[in-house]
Amino acid sequence: LLGRSSLELCYIFAATMQKIFVRTASGNYSVIYGRGALRRAGAMAERLADSAGPLVLSSPRVWKLWGGSLTARFPGWNPDSNWDRRILFDDRESSKRLATVEGICRQLARAGADRRTVLVALGGGVVGDVAGFVAATYLRGVRVVHVPTTLVAQVDSAIGGKTGVNLPEGKNLVGAFYQPCQVIVDPEVLRTLPARQFRAGLYEVIKYAVIGDAALFEFLERRLGNVLRRDPATLDYIVPRCIRAKAAVVRQDEREGGVRQILNFGHTFGHALESATRYRCFLHGEAVAWGMMGATLLAVAAGRLDFEDAVRILHLAARVGPLPPVDGVRGDRIVEIIRGDKKSREGHAQWVLPRKIGVVERGIEVPDAVVRKAFVELPRLFAAARGRS
Ligand code: GLY
Repeated sequence: LLGRSSLELCYIFAATMQKIFVRTASGNYSVIYGRGALRRAGAMAERLADSAGPLVLSSPRVWKLWGGSLTARFPGWNPDSNWDRRILFDDRESSKRLATVEGICRQLARAGADRRTVLVALGGGVVGDVAGFVAATYLRGVRVVHVPTTLVAQVDSAIGGKTGVNLPEGKNLVGAFYQPCQVIVDPEVLRTLPARQFRAGLYEVIKYAVIGDAALFEFLERRLGNVLRRDPATLDYIVPRCIRAKAAVVRQDEREGGVRQILNFGHTFGHALESATRYRCFLHGEAVAWGMMGATLLAVAAGRLDFEDAVRILHLAARVGPLPPVDGVRGDRIVEIIRGDKKSREGHAQWVLPRKIGVVERGIEVPDAVVRKAFVELPRLFAAARGRS
């Protein structure tokens, strides 16, 4: 290896598959990360013991782009006659509901899926959350392999076993903790991800940096251009780093009784925004971006975070790009939804607030008036931060 430039070494390292273990009370599994991992999925599915063969759940768009690569080496898979071995559904956040789950379960029943069936979820966060919930409940549980194709799903939602759907009353109100038997992360699929979707995933990367990885935060500040260009070596640095961070948190606390709550940084405001706009205006990561900035303001207001760190968080989020506006959403409505959030206790949200970059505190209560004021201030501060970027 001597004599190679550091960039060349990055590429050599990236060419090798990485295996990251997720250990939980309800089961252990690995996340395979690497370029070309998608094409190896068939061999991996074949190794699953006592399997009735894979059945793919995906969206029409993702299936068209990546379904062929995924199934190329599936044992016995015939692209001309396997139409009932793949189920496609709409992957917008507004489709993440019980009616979609029922539709998929009925198709599984008609396709003769039995308890040995292995579901393969090929898609972003909505596909993974819905497919995971179907896997948790169809015949009281069948195996699922997650093959995430968006950044948000690769760094966050495909790992850790949270599955479920939204209700008009709130985000993810029906669901189950249900761990997959394997996760396959191929960064090549990010090539075809629309720019807005990619940026939405990047906010979850910023989340990991703020909650526990100051070095990653500095890296993002310095190399945001490379990240936004989806430079392969840069992605090969950040994606596995986030997966490892998530695996470490989930290992300590699978069911969110304690430390896993830190992964909800930005999600209290974020979920309320999604629900207030009926899941139609924001991609999940975009709502989390507003939520992280809102939580940052709350931390400053509570005297828990230095102004300088708050400016860095706002500025980094603003440099990622534009966000759908929040101006049309009333502060009172947001406060009302937050009171009813599943994580609130007796109507009081348990906030995750930054203490400094790389460290957060959880279980903090903040008066409604402060929450409302922070939410109302957000658009102006975001516009100012955008102006600086
Ligand atoms: N996305 C937050 C969690 O998995 O806990």
